[in-house]
Amino acid sequence: MAAEVQALSTNGGWPYDVERVRADFPILAREANGYPLAYLDSANTSQKPQVVVDAVADHYLQHNANVARAMHVLGAESTERYEHGRSRISRFIGAARPEEIIFTKNASEALNLCAHSLGVGLSEGDEIVISEMEHHSNIVPWQLLAERTGAVLRWFGLTPDGKLDLEAAVRDRLINERTKVVSLTWVSNVLGTVNPITKIAEQAHAVGAVMVVDASQAVPQMPTDVAALGADLVAFTGHKMVGPTGLGVLWGRYDLLAELPPFLGGGEMIEIVKMTGSTFAPPPHRFEAGTPPIVEATMIGAAADYLDQIGMAAIHDHEQLITGYALTALAEVPDLRVLGPTEVAADGRAINRGGAISFTLGEIHPHDVSQMLDSRGVAVRGGHHCARPLHEAFGVQSSTRASSYLYTTTAEIDQLVEALLWTQNFFGGGR
Ligand SMILES: Cc1ncc(COP(=O)(O)O)c(C=O)c1O
Repeated sequence: MAAEVQALSTNGGWPYDVERVRADFPILAREANGYPLAYLDSANTSQKPQVVVDAVADHYLQHNANVARAMHVLGAESTERYEHGRSRISRFIGAARPEEIIFTKNASEALNLCAHSLGVGLSEGDEIVISEMEHHSNIVPWQLLAERTGAVLRWFGLTPDGKLDLEAAVRDRLINERTKVVSLTWVSNVLGTVNPITKIAEQAHAVGAVMVVDASQAVPQMPTDVAALGADLVAFTGHKMVGPTGLGVLWGRYDLLAELPPFLGGGEMIEIVKMTGSTFAPPPHRFEAGTPPIVEATMIGAAADYLDQIGMAAIHDHEQLITGYALTALAEVPDLRVLGPTEVAADGRAINRGGAISFTLGEIHPHDVSQMLDSRGVAVRGGHHCARPLHEAFGVQSSTRASSYLYTTTAEIDQLVEALLWTQNFFGGGR
């Protein structure tokens, strides 16, 4: 597919021919429980195109060796490919230099790294600001840090339509001279809300705080320019952007990274080790202890190539259109309550929204809903989606989440809606 996609610009208002994209993802052609698979769980993990899967075999069959330490051809090739992954992802997000990219195990580890390394400078009474819509990965590391240091954890509350309550934040002086870190999700994995990161980063910087962004749901779906975003540290995860599991990314401003202490200790992150103490390599290697995710780094490079060939602006447009289509279709399902923004523009596009749509269906338990949908070939997620405080704020224990991506079709959304109506009838709740 690749380059031709750009040329396939007009498809009834859609930015590209989604069937051509789907042909790159063999798994999407399979059935589930006797129905065509409707994979609506991409906020959980995305599917992988053939080129990304091929990168694994190519690496192991032709170039496999450890990086940095092997003094032979394969070692040089492997190191070159690993570092190419770094520079490729650096370009993908508009970083100033590849050394600003740290590879971790996943977004969770990247956020733990932030909490650990920033936490070394924190003391009792300092404040850390997060929000009620965070994934547990951007709550728990800060709670642990607050326990360790005596720092105070504060948070943005939510408005009834699932946005950050910015007015209450101003009223309560949430960001103030005691604030040392503000850490927010850019796009909610439950609500789809897109947060005003640049504006909040300005407020954080005005009081001398560091701005951390969890971009796990943003980088896969929209063009990302970390230079323009205004944050200091940005974490995301390979497996949600058609790339590998086992690889997270932390971008940081180089001058900040150069000041931060390491997170994990081990081989390849040091300068000199003596029995009496060690000194550490400059970033990024200071933060990459041990054998890194080598093949995964080559996969993330292939994933960035793939996404850029289609174009992140086109992918974002597809996402807005398919999400608008889904919000409009779901509005017709009786007793279905969407958690989060539901605005759809006159042209059918969701307004400033990510592709995750979480909802409740009358009194039917989200686990039952998810199982019923699965029996009709529709893959969604049921539960709290690692965001319990968010669900509590909405007065529910859990929800069902349907999430789209660059390969999602209107037919899959129709299959979801039909399966929801069927589920309602099964439980006697239809109208
Ligand atoms: C917003 C958000 N943050 C963090 C994570 C954690 O990602 P990982 O499991 O790859 O560490 C996720 C994954 O669901 C997410 O959606």
